[in-house]
Amino acid sequence: MTDDFYDRWAPLYDRVARLPFLRSWRASAADALALGAGDTVVEMGCGTGANVPELRERVGSGGRVVGLDLAPGMLARARRHADRRGPEVSYLRGDASRPPVRDVDALLATFVAGIFPDPAAAVDAWCDCVAPGGRVALLNFQRPDGPLAGPLRPLFEGFVRLSAPGGRLSADSQADAFQRRVAAARNRLAERTIDQRAEIFGGGCLGLVSGRISRA
Ligand SMILES: C[S@@+](CC[C@H](N)C(=O)[O-])C[C@H]1O[C@@H](n2cnc3c(N)ncnc32)[C@H](O)[C@@H]1O
Repeated sequence: MTDDFYDRWAPLYDRVARLPFLRSWRASAADALALGAGDTVVEMGCGTGANVPELRERVGSGGRVVGLDLAPGMLARARRHADRRGPEVSYLRGDASRPPVRDVDALLATFVAGIFPDPAAAVDAWCDCVAPGGRVALLNFQRPDGPLAGPLRPLFEGFVRLSAPGGRLSADSQADAFQRRVAAARNRLAERTIDQRAEIFGGGCLGLVSGRISRA
């Protein structure tokens, strides 16, 4: 998987990722982690850091937020938004399919799970990073169904084009492949966690799933 795509898109992506209408969904994703004061939370594929304000607020001044991403351009944008007050925030360059962290209290991946060639393996690696009792949350675009499916379909395909490299695939087959990868990630999360929750937003275009790593 190339990170050039994301480096090229980083300036535009930073603007899109911070659009106000996305804020409530990002807040819901952070809420799904059930964070407490002093917790350490890691975000896989943190991009330009658009979730970081939500995460910082929830872990408080004694907590820690770690953002991991492969693309230097994305990380450079994220660092520009740094705020020195409040909890410690660190950005690391690394591959989210082999995360260099252990025993964190919670893990978030937004608009990321559909990118990996083997999403189930990525989710396994993410669950392995989280201490027993901690939560993992995945927020992703998904193909809408129901009465709004027709009108919203181009929106879903546009999101997929912007969020994942597709090479020469048609919008249709790129969206199909993306949808299958997101489903594989969600299925593995369901196998690896307990106390699962699911929410749907944006007329069915976005799904948030989360679960807790068992203490057993
Ligand atoms: C669609 S963006 C999502 C960014 C952010 N999570 C958000 O909600 O705005 C996908 C991000 O995943 C990163 N990424 C892609 N493959 C990765 C990998 N193997 N390891 C770490 N980050 C990766 C990209 O660089 C990009 O920043």
